[in-house]
Amino acid sequence: MSRLDGKSALITGSARGIGRVFAEAYIREGATVAIADINLERAQQTASELGASAYAVRMDVTDQTSIDAAIAAVEEKTGGLDILVNNAALFDLAPIVEITRQSYDTLFSINVAGSLFTMQAAAKSMITRGKGGKIINMASQAGRRGEALVAVYCATKAAIISLTQSAGLDLIKYGINVNAIAPGVVDGEHWDGVDALFAKHENRPLGEKKKLVGEAVPFGRMGRAEDLTGMAVFLASAEADYIVAQTYNVDGGNWMS
Ligand SMILES: NC(=O)c1ccc[n+]([C@@H]2O[C@H](COP(=O)([O-])OP(=O)(O)OC[C@H]3O[C@@H](n4cnc5c(N)ncnc54)[C@H](O)[C@@H]3O)[C@@H](O)[C@H]2O)c1
Repeated sequence: MSRLDGKSALITGSARGIGRVFAEAYIREGATVAIADINLERAQQTASELGASAYAVRMDVTDQTSIDAAIAAVEEKTGGLDILVNNAALFDLAPIVEITRQSYDTLFSINVAGSLFTMQAAAKSMITRGKGGKIINMASQAGRRGEALVAVYCATKAAIISLTQSAGLDLIKYGINVNAIAPGVVDGEHWDGVDALFAKHENRPLGEKKKLVGEAVPFGRMGRAEDLTGMAVFLASAEADYIVAQTYNVDGGNWMS
């Protein structure tokens, strides 16, 4: 018996990166997974690579109609949603005096409002069905403390930790566990973009920042998406029924709290 047998999961932003690797792990544990992403073409490609237990759903977490349609598509396809992973997010980087309104609005709209209103739609669906559920939000070590060049992204991830606490406390009476994972630095396409932004703002060669942050991790290297799947499966499983409103660091020792 696998730990997520027969469960229906939706993972936002799972066409690539950490979300995709979570989808693979959930499928290995017996779940069916909606690969929900704003990039439908890539979501379809990913779903076809992951096999019959994955299906693609176009979803823009900044658009309420799109959120509602994605949840309805999961209900239609699988009979009801058991697990939501709020994973879609954007990163940006700028010194305080150069932060633009547009960057602020975009990051808060995707990272914070996107997670909140997807969580709300999922919770409504789970409450109506009456079988409880699991909601996992993606925070970050960036939400644990500020960073000179990363003010807005850090603030969005601090908001995720806070929303996880409030939603966790409110929704547990319906048997819905809300918790979060705070990764450290995870290699992949996302961090290639982060590295390029640091190269620009700190006047470094490409790849240097990535090498430095990897060396600084107590474990001795950058994280890989696979390093997070143990926590992602655990929080989605019945083993986590008594865990409420927590954010867990999975970061090779970067942060202690
Ligand atoms: N990679 C890291 O080092 C790291 C560290 C800490 C936390 N995180 C968090 O983990 C999560 C996943 O990160 P990743 O590295 O896999 O990122 P990624 O950039 O590789 O993937 C993000 C995905 O989200 C999708 N997306 C973007 N906007 C969307 C929208 N409006 N609606 C739906 N989907 C949208 C993208 O198309 C993409 O597939 C994010 O919440 C990120 O903040 C990542």
